[in-house]
Amino acid sequence: MKVAVVGATGLVGSKMLQVLTERNFPVTELIPVASEKSVGKEVTFKGKPYKVVNADTAISMKPDVALFSAGGSTSLEWAPKFAAAGITVIDNSSAWRMDPTKKLVVPEVNGKTLTPEDKIIANPNCSTIQMVLVLNPLHEKYKIKRVVVSTYQSVTGTGVKAVDQLMNERKGVEGEKAYAHQIDLNVIPQIDVFLENGYTKEEMKMVKETNKIMGDDSIRVTATTVRIPVIGGHSESVNVAFDKEFELADVRSVLEKTAGVIVVDDPSKQQYPMPKDAHDKDEVFVGRLRRDETQEKTLNMWIVADNLRKGAATNAVQIAEYLHSQKWI
Ligand SMILES: NC(=O)c1ccc[n+]([C@@H]2O[C@H](COP(=O)([O-])OP(=O)(O)OC[C@H]3O[C@@H](n4cnc5c(N)ncnc54)[C@H](OP(=O)(O)O)[C@@H]3O)[C@@H](O)[C@H]2O)c1
Repeated sequence: MKVAVVGATGLVGSKMLQVLTERNFPVTELIPVASEKSVGKEVTFKGKPYKVVNADTAISMKPDVALFSAGGSTSLEWAPKFAAAGITVIDNSSAWRMDPTKKLVVPEVNGKTLTPEDKIIANPNCSTIQMVLVLNPLHEKYKIKRVVVSTYQSVTGTGVKAVDQLMNERKGVEGEKAYAHQIDLNVIPQIDVFLENGYTKEEMKMVKETNKIMGDDSIRVTATTVRIPVIGGHSESVNVAFDKEFELADVRSVLEKTAGVIVVDDPSKQQYPMPKDAHDKDEVFVGRLRRDETQEKTLNMWIVADNLRKGAATNAVQIAEYLHSQKWI
């Protein structure tokens, strides 16, 4: 299988190369794609060097599938051209997520909605993926009415430039800035731009994408998304109000049986999910399970995942694995 990775020199793209290798995806030929400034550079895949090409050249090389992580404008311009050439695109940017003609997929939740006709498939926002993976089995059992989520998001969620800003600030060195404010020793309650309703675009992504992936617009979601000076791994405090009553032990047992979810929840041993422990793991970790004592049928929990893996690269590769298992690519 010929696989193009568009954005192969970036944070998500490099992680995709790693995940494709680790999961033994049957790549026979890799086509790394980046911007014109990187054409001719080499990336290493399974110990072999591959030369970076531009998007035009990649199409002429006829890959079977293209994993895009090169920003929204690149996806808007190039994904339709790849699709028109018969290449299935799995896109990590926000460009196609809310397009009603495109599927927004977390394989464990709604992978089965995919068909061979889906030529551009959207990968959700990193914070949304880790949350819906935990919410979905609870929704099936208790029906979710409302979700209040606050995020603690790492700088790799922004890209290479943001990691450089944090490291430069730690060393006291001047350099390019990804954020409007210092991020080291600080917390920034803004991710992406502000919208007219006072929420940020990231916050509204969490609202709309959750409804779309879970296929239920009746779930009310309100979000506050926050950037913190952690290099990798996003954390979320999630408060969920259900329609039906639950037992904490049952919630735990449902989550323990959910594919891709690991429960880490032993307060007596100070065990709970942390970004440091989620690093380079494909699973989503959940803990601090407890009743909201101020409101009936309501649960509090803490969800952590590696944003570059399940939040981006792993989810995209899992979609490719599903398409391959159906013999659609
Ligand atoms: N970071 C996360 O946790 C995360 C999670 C989910 C989704 N995403 C999404 O994934 C995308 C990439 O994020 P990132 O963090 O990997 O960013 P990044 O580290 O800044 O990498 C961007 C990549 O896109 C390439 N690129 C830029 N313009 C291009 C063009 N015209 N044609 C082809 N390639 C081009 C860059 O190539 P050069 O090296 O040549 O500039 C680089 O490989 C974004 O859309 C982001 O929203 C990120």
